[in-house]
Amino acid sequence: MQNLIEQSADIIGNSELTLALTGAGVSVESGIPDFRSAQGLWSKYDPAEYAAIDAFRARPEMVWEMLREMDDLISDAKPNKAHLGMGELERMGCLHWIVTQNVDNLHQRGGSKNVIEYHGNSSTLSCLWCGRGYLSEDRRNQYPPRCDCGKILKPDVVFFGEAIPQDALSRSFQLASAAQVLLVAGTSAVVSPANSIPAIAKRNGARIIEINMERTHLTDTVTDVFLQGSAGTIISDLVDAVKRKTAELSI
Ligand code: OAD
Repeated sequence: MQNLIEQSADIIGNSELTLALTGAGVSVESGIPDFRSAQGLWSKYDPAEYAAIDAFRARPEMVWEMLREMDDLISDAKPNKAHLGMGELERMGCLHWIVTQNVDNLHQRGGSKNVIEYHGNSSTLSCLWCGRGYLSEDRRNQYPPRCDCGKILKPDVVFFGEAIPQDALSRSFQLASAAQVLLVAGTSAVVSPANSIPAIAKRNGARIIEINMERTHLTDTVTDVFLQGSAGTIISDLVDAVKRKTAELSI
């Protein structure tokens, strides 16, 4: 494993544009379960019933049972070594952008500034009927949270059947096309269109470094270096290795 970490640090050290694509696995060590692992959220809630926009419109009270559980976990969570390490890589000039499918704000709280939120952010709520917006924390004492117009509010996260925010979509596509390195961390990469990012990057010549507890469909197709293990441990080892390389170069 140490060899693979050193190899990845070399690849990152030689890159002028490194992009990361992250998923729920990077927040697992912050106490937020992922979706598709054995203990994941979708083992308890059927996404067709709880994560589709039509389901929210038809049964918002029911969908809020799941949203409230997520909201409680997210509001208690702190950035872990994966988020902090990625923030440090950005400060070192070794990670330029993160495209995250997560809605928990933990990359930003971990020190990353250049974060594209592909599936939105749960810290704000909107009314689908009158368009008013609110901070989630200002409505946390209400369940389900309601707009001043009386309707149930929806978090500003992308539900199945909703479009990806246009800015996030176009910026991610541009970056994936131009990146020299793509770090894919903690995602099963099965949800479209975020899962097209690795293939776009690969087609345009990027080296792909994948960090995951388990192999994914990317591992045997586009991945160049597979770092198997928890994102927190691997990313902090990677930060140490990049620091050592940078120090060697400056002697
Ligand atoms: P998934 O649950 O599909 O995948 C999480 C991945 O993280 C799996 O491949 C796990 O093996 C891996 N993993 C778990 N713990 C880890 C750890 N500590 N370190 C490293 N890897 C770990 O979650 P996503 O790929 O993020 O979208 O799912 C994508 C989208 O599906 C979500 O954004 C959400 C969901 O439906 C919407 O709801 C629109």
